[in-house]
Formats: sequence, structure tokens, C-alpha cells
Amino acid sequence: MTPPVFPARFSVAPMLDWTDSPCRYFLRLLSKHAVLYSEMVTTGALIHGDAARHLDFNARENPLVLQLGGSNAQELAQCAKLGEQWGYSEINLNVGCPSDRVQNNMIGACLMGHPHLVAEGIKAMRDAVGIPVTVKHRIGINGRDSYQELADFVGTVAQAGCQHFIVHARIAILEGLSPKQNRDVPPLRYDIARQLKQDFPDLHFTLNGGIKTLDACEQHLQEFDGVMLGREVYANPWLLREVDQRLYGMPGHSPQTRTEVLLSMRAYIERHVQQGGKVVHVTRHLLGIAQGFPGARRFRQLLSADIHRSDNQLAVFDQAIEVLQGK
Ligand SMILES: Cc1cc2nc3c(=O)[nH]c(=O)nc-3n(C[C@H](O)[C@H](O)[C@H](O)COP(=O)(O)O)c2cc1C
Repeated sequence: MTPPVFPARFSVAPMLDWTDSPCRYFLRLLSKHAVLYSEMVTTGALIHGDAARHLDFNARENPLVLQLGGSNAQELAQCAKLGEQWGYSEINLNVGCPSDRVQNNMIGACLMGHPHLVAEGIKAMRDAVGIPVTVKHRIGINGRDSYQELADFVGTVAQAGCQHFIVHARIAILEGLSPKQNRDVPPLRYDIARQLKQDFPDLHFTLNGGIKTLDACEQHLQEFDGVMLGREVYANPWLLREVDQRLYGMPGHSPQTRTEVLLSMRAYIERHVQQGGKVVHVTRHLLGIAQGFPGARRFRQLLSADIHRSDNQLAVFDQAIEVLQGK
């Protein structure tokens, strides 16, 4: 297992429905050192549901962080323990998700209004596990978006033992905006995240939100301990290929060609299908790898439309690889 680096200089954001195990396996082929995150898993789903379905992953995905959603300290501790036993390298608490469904259960961004509850959860998890416990949060929520309130939140949670904060540098508006709008509409305020780093110099801060290039990452890393990218990595995963060299100073492992990556994914798909999975559960995550290259449009069409109509889906995947090879 690659030893986890704490705090990660570069990580790929947790994204529900996107960063599942097949997606992470694919991303890991492109960078050995980027830290990957699970989708958010609620404590309820782990305690009352099929824990293995939510927690299982391929050991090659490590270093991998389990992101939990919840607020009950004892349940969080129980789930963090499960995560540690399952082999995750870190536990992260979601204090950023704005969806109505989670607010009703005191999960996600609404917890920014309850710093003491978050602190209790962090303390309980830290007492339960030996791996790092971190928080991913917004810079505020509507009605509670002053810098003072944000600093109180960070200070209170840090006192409970959290040393690493991943800051999605916009507020969340808890009424009236969809989760998708909440990732675009509230303006990005890197200056506020920067202020946190200045006011809490002993804590680690990772900047998240709207970062699109490795040039920008290098720039932010002069002020922050880490950067986290979500949508850009999913849309253009090939950018991960330079992460090890440029951000970790560890060249030499990156794949040379997209064909190399896609052939590894072909072998993965075959194993996935043998275990009862579907080809399209894997191929849906691969659309972005062609971005910016000749044939990208045809590649995407094959994997997003044609493959669903075919009774030989692996053959369509092979055809897509050939398109990228210019055949
Ligand atoms: C499809 C999707 C699902 C997401 N699911 C989660 C989630 O489960 N947990 C979380 O903390 N953030 C989630 N986010 C937010 C991202 O982690 C990230 O904070 C946000 O997209 C901003 O970063 P970016 O501009 O680099 O994408 C999600 C974002 C997207 C696009």
C-alpha cells in the first residue's frame, strides 16, 4: 500500500455517484500519489444497511479517505472504526453538502451552525481510530456567513483534535438552491480560506472549489497545504498524469498513453463483469479521458450512447480505444 501523505498536497474531491470504486481505480492508474476520497456515506447507511457494499474497494485505490455524513458522535465513532478496519487511510466528515435530504438528518453543511456537535463527533472518532480525522466544510451558510463565525467553527473543531480542514471556498445556501447550484452560484472566496490559514498557522488547510489546472494548483500550494479538485478531474482525468511529477516531485510512474490506461481498465472491466458487475458501470467514468484529443467526440458517443444499445459492450469499448488510437 502506498503510504498516505498527510496532509495530501493534491486530492480528488468526494463526489456522490461519481467517485465510486471503479472510478477511483481508474483515477489511480493516472496518479499514484493523489489522495482519493469515497463518495459520502451516511452513518445510517453503514449501520443499518449493507456496510460491505458501501465500503469495499480495491486495495490499489489507496491512499483513500472515507467520507462520512452524520452528526451523532457515537454513530460516527462506530463508522470511523469500520472505515479503519476496512483499510481506509483517513476519515473525513462532510460539513459541506447542502441537500435538503441531508439537512433533515443533520448531515452536511447545516452542521456549520453547530460547531460543538461537530467537535463532539470529531473527538469521538479520534478516540475510536488511529488514522487522521478531518473535516470538509464551506466558508459559511446563509444567515451564518461572517468570518468570525467561520473562525469560531474552525477553532472549536480544532480543539476537538481536527488538524486538517478542507475548505470549499464558498458558502452554501440552504434554502432555494439545488446542490448543483450550490457548487456554482455562491461566489468563490479564496481570500477567506487564505485568512483562515493566516489565523490558524498550525492547522493544515486544503483549498477546494473551481481549481482547474496544475499551474493553479502550484500557485495555491504556495499558500495552502493542499489543493482538492473535483469536477475538473472528472471531466479531464488526464490532468492527473502530471500530478506525481509536478506536485509530489516523484516522476516515473505515470502512464505514457491513454491506450495503456484503457487497456488496464479493460482487464478491470473483465474482472468486474465476472463478479457480477456491468460494463457500463465502469465505462461511464472514462468519457473524460479523451478530452482535448482527436476522436474525443466519437469516443464519448461510443461510450455514452452506442454501448447501451449493444449486446457486446466490450467490443464497443474496444472500438472506442481504436478511435483514440486513430484507427
Ligand atoms: C456530482 C458531485 C457530487 C458531489 N458529492 C459530494 C460528496 O459526496 N461529498 C462532498 O463533500 N462534496 C461533494 N461534492 C462537492 C465536491 O466535493 C467539491 O467540493 C465541489 O465540486 C467543488 O470542487 P470543484 O470545483 O473542484 O468541483 C460533489 C460534487 C459533485 C460535482
